[in-house]
Amino acid sequence: MNKFCSSSRMSRRKSALRLTCLIVAVFGVLTMTGSCAMGPLQKQTAGITKGPVLLAVYKDRAALMWETGIEGPCKLYYGGDRKLDRYVESVPETNQAGEEAVKKAVFIHKVWLEDLQAGRTYDYRITGLGFEDKIYTFRTVPASADRVSFIVYGDSRTRPSVHRRLVKQMKKHKVDFVVNCGDLVTKGNKYEQWGPQFFEPLKGLAETVPVYIAKGNHEGDNGNFEKLLMPKGQSNNFGFDYGPVHYFCADNVTEGLKDEVQLELILADARASDAKWKFVSYHVPSVNSGGHWSTWGYPDVLEGLAGAGVDFVLAGHSHIYERFRPVAPPDGTGGNYVTYITSGGGGALMHSIKPDAYHAVTKKKHHFCLFNIDGNKLTMDTIGIDGRLIDHLELTKTAGRLNREYLRTAIPMEEMLAFQRKNLERQD
Ligand SMILES: [Fe+2]
Ligand SMILES: [Fe+2]
Repeated sequence: MNKFCSSSRMSRRKSALRLTCLIVAVFGVLTMTGSCAMGPLQKQTAGITKGPVLLAVYKDRAALMWETGIEGPCKLYYGGDRKLDRYVESVPETNQAGEEAVKKAVFIHKVWLEDLQAGRTYDYRITGLGFEDKIYTFRTVPASADRVSFIVYGDSRTRPSVHRRLVKQMKKHKVDFVVNCGDLVTKGNKYEQWGPQFFEPLKGLAETVPVYIAKGNHEGDNGNFEKLLMPKGQSNNFGFDYGPVHYFCADNVTEGLKDEVQLELILADARASDAKWKFVSYHVPSVNSGGHWSTWGYPDVLEGLAGAGVDFVLAGHSHIYERFRPVAPPDGTGGNYVTYITSGGGGALMHSIKPDAYHAVTKKKHHFCLFNIDGNKLTMDTIGIDGRLIDHLELTKTAGRLNREYLRTAIPMEEMLAFQRKNLERQD
């Protein structure tokens, strides 16, 4: 519930906060019994233990999460013009999954900040029992914009030092959002992996820029991914808009989801958007040469995405960088030329690539893809962990059609279907 605070309430809050800080300073780490939902004699650590992370930012609302080591509500104060004059109170969900939670209590907080204004900068600060966090800033999506910058990467699991170095490179670029194509941790059911492999490397970025995620198979079906990283009330399939871009993230890994149903969700979302540029991310790629040799959605996916007007599909799963030449729509259908990219170089050990004539660029190197779009002009720079350029792509659209030089490099859809068919036998 959002509330406006009076100044007297603010000063009462400060006094209460000072008192609780004192208590925590005296006792250090609290040990609580009885009322704790985690059971008796579990250690609770003061302050924020994961995050904060911006899970979503729209024109008029934003979703955040963080984790605390102490049971009890937190308040997130926020506002424009450097005034933290509104707050939302959060009551945490106790996490009982994973080994870490058995040893030590953890409490996951998730909130939506409502009634925000488009294109505006907001500050926020989280306070709770015994702590007051730093002030962070984020910006809501503008009401209308021609320009947007964003980063896409994936498979950042297992080697936090590599992930951290990559995030350091990312921070050199001012972007509006980040998309991670999944595989965030080695084993999603091991709760203790989420801190070092995902939350800690993203510190200094995820507090101020939203990180959208297409769930990977390593997250698993244990519920930790959804509990930690899906905003309240949102499914693992979601779309968002930013200026000329519509982006849809889909879950193609959760057990029991039918590929044809997931594909139909993706297509329906793309068909419903009239954005200039339409992007889709899902974890397991549809076109892939090397790594897992994935062919997700075969045989309908290629024709479906072309017909729905999608421009780019970025996936992960195979730990390589590969950009395919655009895939042409079936003759006479007037659909889109779709560019398929596998960006699985976020931290995990790299796989082998099988360079193919259908590739535009391949590289076995940790990397991320940086997109800059200004109206009809799109630039993509794929940047390696050393900051060096791996790939550079420039496209323009005129009346909804990509530049002719690019289309001349296209692969006929029949050939790409044959390529997928061949790879069906090779994949693991
Ligand atoms: Fe994967
Ligand atoms: Fe992976």
